[in-house]
Amino acid sequence: MSEIMNHQQHKENIIEILKINEKISHIKDLDSLLDRVLLEARAISNADAGSIYLVKGDKLTFEYVQNDTLLQKDKRSKKYLYAKQEIEIDNASISGYVALNRKPLVIDDVYRLPDDVPYTFNRSFDESSSYHTRSMLTVPLITTEDKITGVLQIINARNKEGAVAPFSKEDEILVSLFANQAAMAIERARMTHELILRMIKMAELRDPRETGLHANRVGTYAIEIYQRWATRRNIPDNEIKRVKDYLKIAAMLHDVGKVAITDTILKKKARLNKNERDYMMRHTIYGCRFFINSTFKEDDMAAEIALNHHEKWDGSGYPGHIPVINCDDIDVNEIPFGPGKKGEEIPLYARIVSLADVYDALKTKRPYKDCWDEDETLAYIESEKGKQFDPEVVEAFMEIYDVIQAIRDKYSSE
Ligand SMILES: [Fe+2]
Ligand SMILES: [Fe+2]
Repeated sequence: MSEIMNHQQHKENIIEILKINEKISHIKDLDSLLDRVLLEARAISNADAGSIYLVKGDKLTFEYVQNDTLLQKDKRSKKYLYAKQEIEIDNASISGYVALNRKPLVIDDVYRLPDDVPYTFNRSFDESSSYHTRSMLTVPLITTEDKITGVLQIINARNKEGAVAPFSKEDEILVSLFANQAAMAIERARMTHELILRMIKMAELRDPRETGLHANRVGTYAIEIYQRWATRRNIPDNEIKRVKDYLKIAAMLHDVGKVAITDTILKKKARLNKNERDYMMRHTIYGCRFFINSTFKEDDMAAEIALNHHEKWDGSGYPGHIPVINCDDIDVNEIPFGPGKKGEEIPLYARIVSLADVYDALKTKRPYKDCWDEDETLAYIESEKGKQFDPEVVEAFMEIYDVIQAIRDKYSSE
């Protein structure tokens, strides 16, 4: 009888997993997707924590972590999200071993590994966070083309009473099944992400200040500032998730309009004169034109950000209120700048990207200027609260400053 029940239960579990796959296949942004994949994988086995590593070149890079226990203890533990870590694909580490051998691995207690296994458990995360890892299920993320895109690792399964327990055979089967589908979705999202980075590289060829790292930092700062802003305003979780799915990509593309600006201006070493500055400022309108009238919703957000990321809260920014710009017949250079948009006339996402972009520029060393130090930068941002920047956005930014710093470290060099 119990055999039949188990069989029935197993079938239901599999149907459940197929349903989850349907849901994750709609997520476009890579980070949102990794977040969801981990959440679902953990839910299958009621696991406390987990991480995802992606294959980059010949290494695994740490991409995402979730940890209920740490998050409860320290609300700011989000900074662990942006840890920078690279692992060799070899037998020395658990995730390296799974990536190399392409088979799931179940460990009941990582502190009591059998003597005959080649890998060791890396204790550094436990030591730095005072977390205790015990049971672990690590599965390879393999696409249908037989390509390994990463490794999914879930930690500390919990039994009905909430105590840490080993992962079961059923957990292993279900998580592996889920991982196969997740790998396909991750591969697709990585492709979109890389296409976008390629667009940014095009802009970078024109203007060396617009690098992929700058774009990644601005995009990631933007989603974290938004999340804080939205939490303060009690925006429902699913709305936050929906916005974050678009916002990172849209924010990364804030300056692609620069591809339309001539080299003589972009590469000019001397100070720009009034006419040249005026022309340069048109990258906002060019950028907006790239994305306007598209059938994709994320393009509306990208258009809004490209157009408004140089507006200032007090109305002294550009390009201001301008007549219709979504008509390709009108030459961008003929469009007069209008009176600056003020306060909430500037779309929220542009207010957020404006702060993220200025912060990143201040903290970046350029041939003609040094990187500002920490105190100087924060004092400047504070002093521009209500002038250049939306005060509430500045507050949200300050509240998550440790996360901002972790992002800066993560995207500090290729
Ligand atoms: Fe810009
Ligand atoms: Fe920028």
